[in-house]
Amino acid sequence: MTNLTMLITEGKGKRLYATDNPDEAIVSYRDETFAYHGLKRGRIIGKGEINNLICEYIFTLLTQKGVPNHFIRRLDNRCSLVKRVEIVPVVVKVRNIVAGSLAKRIGYPDGTRLKNTVVEYCLKDSELDDPLVNLTHITAMDIATAEEIQRMEELSLRVNDIVGECMREISIELIDFKLEFGRYKGAILLADEVSPDTCRFWDARTHEPLDIDRFRHDLGDVEEAYREVLHRLTGNVLKQSE
Ligand code: TMP
Repeated sequence: MTNLTMLITEGKGKRLYATDNPDEAIVSYRDETFAYHGLKRGRIIGKGEINNLICEYIFTLLTQKGVPNHFIRRLDNRCSLVKRVEIVPVVVKVRNIVAGSLAKRIGYPDGTRLKNTVVEYCLKDSELDDPLVNLTHITAMDIATAEEIQRMEELSLRVNDIVGECMREISIELIDFKLEFGRYKGAILLADEVSPDTCRFWDARTHEPLDIDRFRHDLGDVEEAYREVLHRLTGNVLKQSE
């Protein structure tokens, strides 16, 4: 078991712990889940272990393809060792197909294919409901430089190409996703997670969501959907949790 005593911070789907090495941290993936800015809470049994394995797979792929990220190695069922970055308080959302908040904002039906990839920035501020902002807001607030945002956008589009292709091969459509980045020794690294908690994955044939939207919209079979993504990606069949 990994020694988890020095809690740094706790998020919706994870806890972050310090290690003896100030350049590293341990991320522990949780079964707990929150939607609608904490108004809806629940537990998806097995989610923590599944997301740990999915993130190991995706971060390893991104490393192989040259996308710098915080992942070092998986430690056990729930925990992975990562580089301890300073998170940039700007979330990047990348969208290929209309869904979620974009459908509400522009009035297009879910599932409409976009003529080009959409990139959005949101402030990472849950008290303000993570508002949509643009580059001039971000530089005016002095929370990141234009160069940092440009690098984050460039890496986000590469993640879209790499993860999109990987998902297509297993008959999953990458609808949209959100990424977080961190500063580490003068560089921008992809941080946080890339999992069904942070991406919309639709089955390419049925268009059924295989992600956290199953929990958000009470569609049922949430754990099964997460297992299905892991299984298609890695061939791994995790035993059903108690
Ligand atoms: P949205 O359509 O709700 O704005 O979400 C866009 C993408 O961002 C979608 O893949 C889900 C992801 N996302 C998160 O990972 N965490 C969040 O808190 C929100 C609101 C969205």
